[in-house]
Amino acid sequence: SSAAPTPPQGMDFTPVAANTEDALVIPEGYTQQVVIRWGDPVIPGAPEFDFDNQTPEAQAGQFGFNNDFAGLIPIEGVSNHYYMVVNQEYTSEAFMFTDYVEKQPTEQQALISKAAHGITVLEVTATPGSGELTAVVGPRNRRITADTPFRLTGPAAGSEYVRTTADPAGMTVAGTIANCSGGITPWGTMLSGEENFNGYFSNASAVTGTAAVEHLERYGFEDDGDYHQWGLYDPRFDLAKEPNEANRFGYVVEVDPHDPTSTPIKHSALGRLKHESATIHVVGSGPGAGTVVAYSGDDERFEYIYKFVSSRKMKTGVSATARAHNTGILDEGTLYVATFTGNDPDAIDGSGTLPPNGSFSGTGTWTPLLTVAADGNATSHVGGMSPAQVAVFTRTAADTAGATKMDRPEDIEANPRSGKVYCALTNNSKRGTDGKAAADEANPRNENTNGQIIEISDNHLGTDFTWDLLLVCGDPAEADTYYGGFDKTAVSAMSCPDNVAFDPHGNLWVSTDGNALDSNDGLFAVALDGANRGQTRQFLTVPRGAETCGPIIGTDRVIVCVQHPGEQDDHSAANPYSHWPDGGDAQPRPSVVAVWPEGGGPIGV
Ligand code: FEO
Ligand code: CA
Ligand code: CA
Ligand code: CA
Repeated sequence: SSAAPTPPQGMDFTPVAANTEDALVIPEGYTQQVVIRWGDPVIPGAPEFDFDNQTPEAQAGQFGFNNDFAGLIPIEGVSNHYYMVVNQEYTSEAFMFTDYVEKQPTEQQALISKAAHGITVLEVTATPGSGELTAVVGPRNRRITADTPFRLTGPAAGSEYVRTTADPAGMTVAGTIANCSGGITPWGTMLSGEENFNGYFSNASAVTGTAAVEHLERYGFEDDGDYHQWGLYDPRFDLAKEPNEANRFGYVVEVDPHDPTSTPIKHSALGRLKHESATIHVVGSGPGAGTVVAYSGDDERFEYIYKFVSSRKMKTGVSATARAHNTGILDEGTLYVATFTGNDPDAIDGSGTLPPNGSFSGTGTWTPLLTVAADGNATSHVGGMSPAQVAVFTRTAADTAGATKMDRPEDIEANPRSGKVYCALTNNSKRGTDGKAAADEANPRNENTNGQIIEISDNHLGTDFTWDLLLVCGDPAEADTYYGGFDKTAVSAMSCPDNVAFDPHGNLWVSTDGNALDSNDGLFAVALDGANRGQTRQFLTVPRGAETCGPIIGTDRVIVCVQHPGEQDDHSAANPYSHWPDGGDAQPRPSVVAVWPEGGGPIGV
């Protein structure tokens, strides 16, 4: 094949080859450092990690388990200091307790698990001229757990669907769980999506009433799906005792790290689903300048893509006044769900073969589901459903809109350079099977094991868009893959895209979860423009059994969250469990890692 064009700015590094090392593998000439691991102290006074003598009290002051999203928010007036905000999505109890019996935690184990969930705010200092970050154990830090009070806003708040014994008003929810990806707002807060919350509730079959049962089924609640069994010790998580508690999770949450005493928020105007994230695009010019658009995916097979268009315009800056104004932005506006229409639908046979017109592409529409006015009055756009019902049972509302069932819509984010929106569609092994939706142009392969990335040119304020598939992932040697038209002999193979981010040059970066090509998961840079469009280069791979999460692609450093190292389906003598990062025979520890060029300097230049 002919020589590939020179990589664009930000992608000039030696790609990391596919591998199954129990290590974080980075390009030649780069160096790495673990910033913080599960169990490291966060709150002043928290003890050092002691795997054999862990307690709920210690865990509540330490870094939690299974870090997913990470963001850096500058601390005003203190140069080189940041709030690093990190999700702690879920617990892998088998790696936390030597004597764990599956789905039968002791009370102590259940309490440790709850304390290891949620969100961490950690002050970090950046070393000038280096990518190094140092964790500061100090008063700016915060641990939010499965028991921290949240204020519920939007049409769900106070409704009959969210009232419980502990909160008869339905306004204050204890805790956040299953926090997956997220976003940093221009007003200096963190957004985080509550994703697989159904896996925390027992006794779904004890719930009665046709509507209540249907709603539980629509969100995947099952008796054998409760992996944590907190309900043995906390009645909130036993649906036989508190059937409405389930309706208090599945929201986009917002945390203001500038005030460690602030009450975090659950925004129900953005709907209740398995939110992978919410990310913000601000309209830059024209009559809609300052309008805030939040994009979100619902990460399950055959679920939908959503956006929320605020009717309150953003106040610039991160002053307390601006933040107070902007924190209400996600409580005032319209929630939409997406329908994708292909422009060559008859050519799609489920094989992933490109249609005769040369690309998977088409048009789309956003269908409104719910509008919330400035005074809090809400309007449902779905016949037969109240505003509160749309806010709490959003999947059911979206079903009526005829929205397009996607292949696990995960992280979705607008490119700050171009405004184009990119969504990772991780995979969908059930596509086209058992009477399920068959392939369409946006989801062009049946039994899709490798996923795709869709590029949306959105009329951010309006209800129309066009779209293209940027990547149809998988082994580039296979005919059912597409790398943006780039020479497939000169790309890094990508499988199961999960998180998306952008570097300062405008390149897309993608982290993967579940690589189906016999390699560990990784982090890739993807060129978007010109002759390089579709060129992929793997920047790093994570240790065995881990998922690559939370990437932050800065000018001088890449930060990556290594989630669930050791969670290998196929562990064996030849593929032993991970002992990363501590090595020896240590238990694996989810960790946040910084990577930068040896001696400092820009990434990929
Ligand atoms: Fe938590 Fe959709 O991954
Ligand atoms: Ca994810
Ligand atoms: Ca992202
Ligand atoms: Ca994932």
